[in-house]
Amino acid sequence: METNSIKEILNKKPIGSTITVKGWVRTFRSNRFIAINDGSTLKNIQAVVDFENFDADLLKRITTGACLSIKGDLVNSQGKGQEIEILVSEIEIIGDSNPEEYPLQPKKHSLEFLREIAHLRPRTNTFGAILRVRHNLAFAIHQYFHNKDFFYLNTPIITGSDAEGAGEMFNVSVLDKKNIPLTDEGEVDYSQDFFGKEANLTVSGQLEAELAALALSKVYTFGPTFRAENSNTTRHLAEFWMIEPEVAFNDLDDNMDLAEDFLKYVIRFALENCVDDLEFLEKRLLDEEKSKPLNERSDMPLTEKLRFVSENNFRRVSYTEAIDILRNSKPNKKKKFQYLIEDWGVDLQSEHEKFLVKHFNAPVILFDYPAHIKAFYMRLNEDGKTVRAMDILFPGIGEIIGGSQREERYDILEQRIEEFGIEKESLMWYLETRKFGTCTHSGFGLGFERLVQFVTGMGNIRDVIPFPRTPGNAEF
Ligand code: 4AD
Ligand code: MG
Repeated sequence: METNSIKEILNKKPIGSTITVKGWVRTFRSNRFIAINDGSTLKNIQAVVDFENFDADLLKRITTGACLSIKGDLVNSQGKGQEIEILVSEIEIIGDSNPEEYPLQPKKHSLEFLREIAHLRPRTNTFGAILRVRHNLAFAIHQYFHNKDFFYLNTPIITGSDAEGAGEMFNVSVLDKKNIPLTDEGEVDYSQDFFGKEANLTVSGQLEAELAALALSKVYTFGPTFRAENSNTTRHLAEFWMIEPEVAFNDLDDNMDLAEDFLKYVIRFALENCVDDLEFLEKRLLDEEKSKPLNERSDMPLTEKLRFVSENNFRRVSYTEAIDILRNSKPNKKKKFQYLIEDWGVDLQSEHEKFLVKHFNAPVILFDYPAHIKAFYMRLNEDGKTVRAMDILFPGIGEIIGGSQREERYDILEQRIEEFGIEKESLMWYLETRKFGTCTHSGFGLGFERLVQFVTGMGNIRDVIPFPRTPGNAEF
């Protein structure tokens, strides 16, 4: 007997036919109405039981959380609230759920509580919706690049290089922790370790993606990345997924065009393909924000904001211009910023990024940053002090994309590597691409969870990945 997904049944409405659904009980009312959900859609299907035809002991086992298989005829519903329902002829309890112990009751649970039971939270409306939107965004990302003749590239997860040069990496080692071998200089002797050298979890696939772009022209990665930064914020994870396109012959302007077009495409895809889930998440957000002061609430309902971003041009502003705007801004003059903007060259904090997005009332692409606050691989401008970097700032999120045109000139790259105090030997393979057929190229990294946060309106990044890893937390 074929099992039908609830999504399919609700779409096709095969009235009069006998169907079987399998799923989990959300509620069971009046010993008569079972609301079943199988995760294929936000919506439940109602199954109507004529309790006189069923054993009372069986009916007792229909509790919130129990897994059932139900067979019956699909009919037009007599009641309000649903168009169709199943008149149940057979019930099989696949898995019982003790109502005394099941932590998910049909009531509102806090997001904090749900994080503690992350093994069960996909069964809630909110997390079901988030996971379905997350899937749709991932699918849209692959589709976008495939349609534009990019190749999906898998870069290593264990690596000997520190792409961002920030040193915030998780070490991968099989050395005996109780008896670590040391060199004559008293340092850890990694030559005795698994790889014969020090190895870490990757912080970015960019450097390897560059190698492939200088052969296949257009590539992208979509994989997990790891950062051992001790940031306990609503925007940082220790393990997150990043999408990194890299394109030969693209300069920074092309890079900005690509990033903007790409973001708009995937947001539009979600708007078109996640209608029910986004409608639900929009209501959830409005509800949540009712308890917040007016100035902390969103300016627009969720889907309106998504439409706004996908239909309007991003504002492109140089770092230097941005510093002028910030220096002369009200919060700076009234000393409302925690970090006051005085001199050119300072790194921007999230309070500044938020101000700029509000100021322009649109996503902002900041470019041409001071060289000393960005990574070694970014192309040096003629002025000798700025690099062809870009960050894309989104409302409510801040930085969602970071990217750049890459330094393609051997001598200058070599000099930059030296200035950053990076051991040149460790990057010979990277430098060699500048020796053999080098060319202008650019790319960027999109933090997948920050995108999912933006599209779902969730305030905390821990709620848009199934099992978040943050300082002090690696449960499940
Ligand atoms: O700005 P980042 O560090 O840039 C890179 O890693 C470059 N190699 C990208 C490239 O040019 N190919 O990181 C890129 C994006 C950020 O804009 C942010 O969205 C996300 O990755 N990100 C994080 N997301 C969640 N948790 C963290 N700890 C993150 N760190 C960065
Ligand atoms: Mg960045």
